[in-house]
Amino acid sequence: MKQLLRIDNYDLSLRMNGENIRVISSADLFVSEGEIVGLIGESGCGKSMLWKSLLGLADPQKWICSGELRLMGNPMDLSDRAALTEARGNQVSVILQDPMNAFDQLFTIERHFIETARAHVQWSKGEILKKATSLMRRLYIREPEKVLKMYPFQCSGGMLQRIMIALALMLDPPLLIADEPTTSVDVTVQREIVAMLKEVNRDRNTGILYISHDLKIIEDLADRVYVMYAGYLVESFPVSALQERKVFHPYTVKLLQSRPSYTKAYLPVLEGNPPSLLDRQAGCPFAPRCPKAVDACRSYDMHVYEIGNQHIVRCLRWEDENEPAQN
Ligand SMILES: Nc1ncnc2c1ncn2[C@@H]1O[C@H](COP(=O)(O)OP(=O)(O)OP(=O)(O)O)[C@@H](O)[C@H]1O
Ligand code: SF4
Ligand SMILES: [Mg+2]
Repeated sequence: MKQLLRIDNYDLSLRMNGENIRVISSADLFVSEGEIVGLIGESGCGKSMLWKSLLGLADPQKWICSGELRLMGNPMDLSDRAALTEARGNQVSVILQDPMNAFDQLFTIERHFIETARAHVQWSKGEILKKATSLMRRLYIREPEKVLKMYPFQCSGGMLQRIMIALALMLDPPLLIADEPTTSVDVTVQREIVAMLKEVNRDRNTGILYISHDLKIIEDLADRVYVMYAGYLVESFPVSALQERKVFHPYTVKLLQSRPSYTKAYLPVLEGNPPSLLDRQAGCPFAPRCPKAVDACRSYDMHVYEIGNQHIVRCLRWEDENEPAQN
């Protein structure tokens, strides 16, 4: 299968008060054609900055990145912002967390479709609107011709989220990045969006990188999963590992244990907070919260253990038994 996105040994740092503060460390990740890949992790761990920096959206005055990036199999120069911007739209589209802020309130929905298309292709207005109405219909938007004439503030959050997906699909990008697209919508719209993304993936063989805090959605949607903690990808595995409870990193185990279920009398809570950017100690960043931490963890170089069938883990003690996750 063709790899649509691949990063190797990717680092991202923030310039702050004359210092470079590491936000993402040694990340290796790929998304192949037709695959839905989940990326999960606590707030602030670096999920959004990962894709923003890869697509040239991180301010180069503030952010420094290094490592290897390939898009559609082609090596990309991380400092060539023009090339990364060009890739956005044609090769990769993004569906954002907050649809209200993704639209310009002064422009009609129609204008958003026209501007998005014209940034990349030479289609006539008629062609653009035909494609827009057909996509909107497929995304269950009633009377799309009327909706095109509306302004974003006249649309509900759920409708804007669907319009954002239609905009993202307009140029048939091989890869979609969905950053928490269901955060600001109710459960019904949430289900519809997940169903739509599955349909797009199946019908067009689109690769999807789906970012979420919600393990349940990731379990329903993804083929493979990456777990991020404090800027490290600490574990990755085929989704079957979640279903079979065969995950090994203590953080992933805690996430699984904290998943709501009708049969649990109470939910274990992951005590403590992730380390702040300014307070990263040597060794494993999970050590202060980890029930299995030993002295050696504080000098662990965070290398990766490959433990079979596309399963990798960054934990010194991955082989020692974890508390079992109940369900
Ligand atoms: N513009 C910015 N200036 C300074 N620091 C930033 C900026 N944007 C993000 N950060 C910091 O970079 C780190 C990673 O942020 P990022 O937005 O990628 O987290 P996230 O995993 O997407 O979180 P969430 O789940 O809340 O969306 C955080 O510590 C955040 O505070
Ligand atoms: S390396 Fe140590 S502290 Fe880090 S997750 Fe594994 S056992 Fe816990
Ligand atoms: Mg985010």
